[in-house]
Amino acid sequence: LERILIGDQCEILVGRGLPSPLLPPARRRRVAVLTQPGASAVAGRVAGALECPAEVVVLPDREAAKTLEVVGGVYARLAEINLARPDTIVGVGGGTVTDVAGFVAATWLRGVEWAAVPTTLLGAVDAAIGGKTGINVDVGSATAKNLVGAFWHPRRVAIDLDSLEALPAGLRREGTAEALKAGLVGDPAIVEAYRRSGPDAPLDVVVPRAVRVKAEVVGGDFREGGRRAILNFGHTLGHAIETVAGLSHGEAVAVGMAAAAAVSARRYGFPAGRLVDLLFSLGLPVAAAGASRRAVLDLVARDKKGTGDEVRMVLLRAVADPVVEAVSSEEIDAALAAVGIH
Ligand SMILES: NC(=O)c1ccc[n+]([C@@H]2O[C@H](COP(=O)([O-])OP(=O)(O)OC[C@H]3O[C@@H](n4cnc5c(N)ncnc54)[C@H](O)[C@@H]3O)[C@@H](O)[C@H]2O)c1
Ligand SMILES: [Zn+2]
Repeated sequence: LERILIGDQCEILVGRGLPSPLLPPARRRRVAVLTQPGASAVAGRVAGALECPAEVVVLPDREAAKTLEVVGGVYARLAEINLARPDTIVGVGGGTVTDVAGFVAATWLRGVEWAAVPTTLLGAVDAAIGGKTGINVDVGSATAKNLVGAFWHPRRVAIDLDSLEALPAGLRREGTAEALKAGLVGDPAIVEAYRRSGPDAPLDVVVPRAVRVKAEVVGGDFREGGRRAILNFGHTLGHAIETVAGLSHGEAVAVGMAAAAAVSARRYGFPAGRLVDLLFSLGLPVAAAGASRRAVLDLVARDKKGTGDEVRMVLLRAVADPVVEAVSSEEIDAALAAVGIH
């Protein structure tokens, strides 16, 4: 159906069913398929479609997969099956699986080829695209998310819209927040599709367009020095709100986008109310009343990761016209107030 390239590094195929052949031709002799419980049926189909022997490794579900212990266990399996330089690792599952598969591929034998078959909407429009891989690491009593990782593009990403359409509503909503984000920073047609059709906006419109936004941004700024930052729309405050309010990532990004829209409204007259209405109509939260303002501000300050004193946020002058700018503490307060955090 659609083929999207990130330079000559990564080829993304969006279609119905799995592409055939699934992997680009190579001299590989075996494949390790990493997956998770919720995606094991797709992983079985992937293993069956390959032209060489496949070892299927089922990781623990969700974030429990993204640990050094799990990665160590995968290395042991790769050693047992003698996975060598010309061979391939395939991650079949949500973002946790593709993060681990990519990290293992980047580090095993100092780097082997890998491919991703994202089975969640968030994985398809975000996690599997762009070559960031990583795991979580315990630091003191806390777990630092994505503290250890590598930039390592999958050779191919195969997205099956049929299986994404079958996702339960909660998983669909998680990805909707990121797909809408891609539209807000880079493609008005995505926003229009959600306005017109609500949460059931056709994935054949939304997915390839959201993938193209991320692929284009990442293609020009692989290691996140500049433009890649626009993909953080809704995330500066969203990450902090996720932790403090105990929301899922997609829900917190929705609240974060509503907050960033409030600042965008003050600076640029962005129609924030329309975005809030849209988020609401998609079943996403637009406020996190009850979250501690102090706790959110502390986390925002900590999240700056030594990048200077000022907090920078992605703002919208209009749909698909983002800017990354320093914001004052008054503006942050106003943004938090707009989402019920006082
Ligand atoms: N590398 C990146 O650039 C990047 C970007 C965004 C997010 N991420 C990472 O992605 C992760 C979140 O991704 P996620 O939400 O896909 O998480 P996930 O991998 O935890 O999957 C969520 C749930 O969906 C289930 N599932 C998967 N496929 C299914 C299917 N076809 N049907 C039914 N259930 C299915 C899984 O078993 C799991 O319980 C986080 O760890 C985040 O850090 C990475
Ligand atoms: Zn996100």
